[in-house]
Amino acid sequence: MSVEGQPGDGKEGDLLTLHARAPGKVNLALFLGPARQDGRHELVTLFQAVSLSDELTLTVGTVGTVGEAGVGGDQVICPGVEGPNLAAAALAGLRARGWEAPPVRLEIEKHVPVAAGMGGGSADAAAALRLAVEVLPGRPEEVAGLAAELGSDVPSQLVPGLVLGTGAGDLVEPYPPLPGLAVVIVPQQGRALSTPEVFAEADRLGLPRSRQALRERYEELVETLRVGGRPPASVMVNDLQPAALSLCPEVGEALGATETAGAETALVSGSGPTVAGFFWGQDADERARRAAETLVAEYPRAVAAQPVTAEYALPRAA
Ligand code: C5P
Repeated sequence: MSVEGQPGDGKEGDLLTLHARAPGKVNLALFLGPARQDGRHELVTLFQAVSLSDELTLTVGTVGTVGEAGVGGDQVICPGVEGPNLAAAALAGLRARGWEAPPVRLEIEKHVPVAAGMGGGSADAAAALRLAVEVLPGRPEEVAGLAAELGSDVPSQLVPGLVLGTGAGDLVEPYPPLPGLAVVIVPQQGRALSTPEVFAEADRLGLPRSRQALRERYEELVETLRVGGRPPASVMVNDLQPAALSLCPEVGEALGATETAGAETALVSGSGPTVAGFFWGQDADERARRAAETLVAEYPRAVAAQPVTAEYALPRAA
């Protein structure tokens, strides 16, 4: 396995090229519970995959033809992202479970902000798994187990859409889309937050709810999903938000600016610092688009996005 920052060559002998989108996610709700023995926290969260996506290209070759560094192994190329790559860990995890496809080259074009609460790295890992099993199927329960091992956010992104996450966020249940939702995504240029640091700050601030309180929020959320439509304000809460604000106070201005630009609710996404603004109703798309146009003056990467379903992220032949 090699991970590189620059595209290589060596396309000769390639057999097959597949593309897949890796949608980022926002959290419509995130309720934090106590820390567990494994160091992660109990969560009840509602993930929504959105059209702001990374683009993955998987090329299958024969040994010795998939780029120099990849001879005899797989190669992951992800310009702009240094260090260990969760998509590379996904391929290595499949190999360790006996996946025997010829070596592959995986190229990742980043659009989802990095270390920003949108699960971009997890989305790439999930998309890498979708692409890999398209080339050569793996055992579905093994792939699902690997996704959970890679990170708490990966299982929810294996089949992107509206997903209720419990456990550490890794026990997932899909739900039908909520009609009339549009989103404006407001990344904080040049700011990143480390997920473990935000959870640690939440502990320091005493934010986790009791198991009983978490259970009550779970029941309220499930009832909201059963009814469908726009969730009430009591549900659209991110318990990690005060921790993200404590570590990155500028997030407060972004939340205010997003509401001023017309969002009905503005929330930090996951552990932040990206802010998501939510719009509901018939003209929600148009209002989200106008909000993005306003916000872009202060937040250059602000962009309108739509909720997406699994179909949007399916592997396709090039
Ligand atoms: O699961 P993942 O590897 O993405 O989590 C990274 C870190 O984020 C964990 O080691 C933990 O510090 C924190 N975390 C947590 N509770 C969760 C998910 C993540 O405390 N439910």
